[in-house]
Amino acid sequence: MNNKYKSVLEAIGNTPLVGVDIGANAHAFAKLEYLNPGGSIKDRPALFMITEAERNGVLKPGGTIIEASSGNQGIALAMIGAVKGYEVIITVPDRTSFEKVSALQAYGAKVYVCPDTDCLEDPEGYHAKAEELFHKTPGAFMPNQYYNKENPRAHYLTTGPEIWQQTEGRITHCFIGMGSCGTISGIGKYLKEQNPAIKIIGIDAATSKFSSPDNPKTYKTEGIGVDVISDTLDMSVVDEALPIKDEDAFAMTKEMAHQGYLVGLSSGAVMHVAKQYAPQLKQDDVAVLIFADSGRAYLSKVFNV
Ligand SMILES: Cc1ncc(COP(=O)(O)O)c(C=O)c1O
Repeated sequence: MNNKYKSVLEAIGNTPLVGVDIGANAHAFAKLEYLNPGGSIKDRPALFMITEAERNGVLKPGGTIIEASSGNQGIALAMIGAVKGYEVIITVPDRTSFEKVSALQAYGAKVYVCPDTDCLEDPEGYHAKAEELFHKTPGAFMPNQYYNKENPRAHYLTTGPEIWQQTEGRITHCFIGMGSCGTISGIGKYLKEQNPAIKIIGIDAATSKFSSPDNPKTYKTEGIGVDVISDTLDMSVVDEALPIKDEDAFAMTKEMAHQGYLVGLSSGAVMHVAKQYAPQLKQDDVAVLIFADSGRAYLSKVFNV
């Protein structure tokens, strides 16, 4: 019985690293974060944020978890809430796939689908709606992934060390999608502490506020896109932040399914950028790509259309 976990939450993390072909002489591996029990990388920060809230008393038994999420953070919170017995309310923008909204509801979360907007302060948007619900719900806790230090810390303490150990310290480049930026900041900090020469390459939606500050526009690539520039983004550990267009992310995501990787749009975006970057890699380089979630969450949006 040694390998048994007491609950599904103990199965979060320790995801496999598998070889992928990015068309370079260098070694390339994908970290299959879609094998987390909630189906994405966001299980890690969700568990850290809830555990810390319980520890410091802001989330008490019978409490309600409320979060604005484009899907995966919400799904992770819904799973954790279901295991631990909390009510969960998630607000999502209407670009969120049907499958993600259905998954949230399947875990028993209440979902508010809000109009997509390129401005986070928009009172109609999903962030404003989450704030409103938070203020009128007694016993509510809002993890607020964009401002919660446990978000990058989850990756600093788990994802980063796993990548370092799985590559036996040989990693030279890490390609990571940027949304709240907890992943890139946490992994980047850990890896740079081990070896400052490791290149941390972020992938952002081309028309996000960060990549198009003068003319941000909505985009269809879920999961990535830096529209809130907060302390969870530590640019001191990011070497480059490269933009991805929706059409490139969608095309690569479809192509990857035909190669056996049924991954989500941010993984397609990461793969597209890594392939473009590949000619710069040397033979002994070791690149790691983060595949943050599964294509099953996008069957109606990307594949079966
Ligand atoms: C599929 C997917 N990829 C990438 C990211 C970006 O991760 P982070 O918010 O840590 O920047 C997210 C975040 O929700 C995601 O859901």
